[in-house]
Amino acid sequence: VTAMPPTRAPQGAAGHVGYGKIILLGEHSVVYGRRAIAAPIGLTVRAEVGRGTPGQAPIITDWDADGSVQEPISADVSHRVATLIAARLGLPQSGVRVDVFSELPRASGLGASAAFAVALIRATAECFSIRLSDEQVSSLAFECEKIVHGTPSGIDNTVATFGRPILFQKTDAPSGHEIRDIVTPNPIPIVIGLTGMHALTSHTVAAVRAAWQQRPARYDAIFDQIDSLVGEGADALRRGDTVELGELMNINQGLLNALQVSSPELEQMVAIARRAGALGAKLTGGGGGGAMIAVAGSAGAEPIRAALRGAGYTTYLTEIR
Ligand code: MEV
Repeated sequence: VTAMPPTRAPQGAAGHVGYGKIILLGEHSVVYGRRAIAAPIGLTVRAEVGRGTPGQAPIITDWDADGSVQEPISADVSHRVATLIAARLGLPQSGVRVDVFSELPRASGLGASAAFAVALIRATAECFSIRLSDEQVSSLAFECEKIVHGTPSGIDNTVATFGRPILFQKTDAPSGHEIRDIVTPNPIPIVIGLTGMHALTSHTVAAVRAAWQQRPARYDAIFDQIDSLVGEGADALRRGDTVELGELMNINQGLLNALQVSSPELEQMVAIARRAGALGAKLTGGGGGGAMIAVAGSAGAEPIRAALRGAGYTTYLTEIR
């Protein structure tokens, strides 16, 4: 991957939104400097920030889609993130009131924590008339992700900020990464299925790290294999070759299973999706629960969604474009 700053501004990026994401290929190995491909989904987190009482801790209200107040998964983490953002923006004592509106299911591997951080940074900056570049937004969101995840690669905050498909690699460049846009000739329909099992990325990332520390050569070999799937996947996406993409996703799922980050529900969903005509299916994000993605074949996305719904799973449809 060569360094290339993002060029196209995503639609609707102005203001207070952070984008949810899927990882098409390469989660976990991306933490160890291998490449990965991620894309935004049509679900976002939006934040509205107003001035609060100076000297007071941030007040965060988290609204559910139906207008009721949602129980935050971890109020403590949200407060630490909001406090860090205020401090980094030079507003340690200003006091902020934050309203959060999330379309993203939490702890599902769809990047809700990074999208929350990006939305909050953008809304806080606007409230206090601070101009931030997208690079600055992403880099501060990366600091926030360290609070949530421990050792993030930086891919989630990057997609949450820029909102377009990228090939990502963590490097020792000053920015900490290299990114390339991925442009597909036609939109590629992807079904997202939720296991309904909450999974914390910090746990699966820590489990993979413990295994790698015990046997680095064994796990590095798996990371290298995933990296070469990612390289081939980037080419397949640029050609619009969904058959090849699907096969690469299936092999990636096998290697994620080898990393022991799959789960019985994920395996069941993958099998259902493939039986219903998916060209490929795999877990996405941290795994251990969370979400599965499937690339639709010639029969389209509906049979896959119907089969997953029939087994009791919630689905979404998105497009790589
Ligand atoms: C989480 O969306 C992706 C992981 O690779 C963690 C990371 O890259 O920070 C599991």
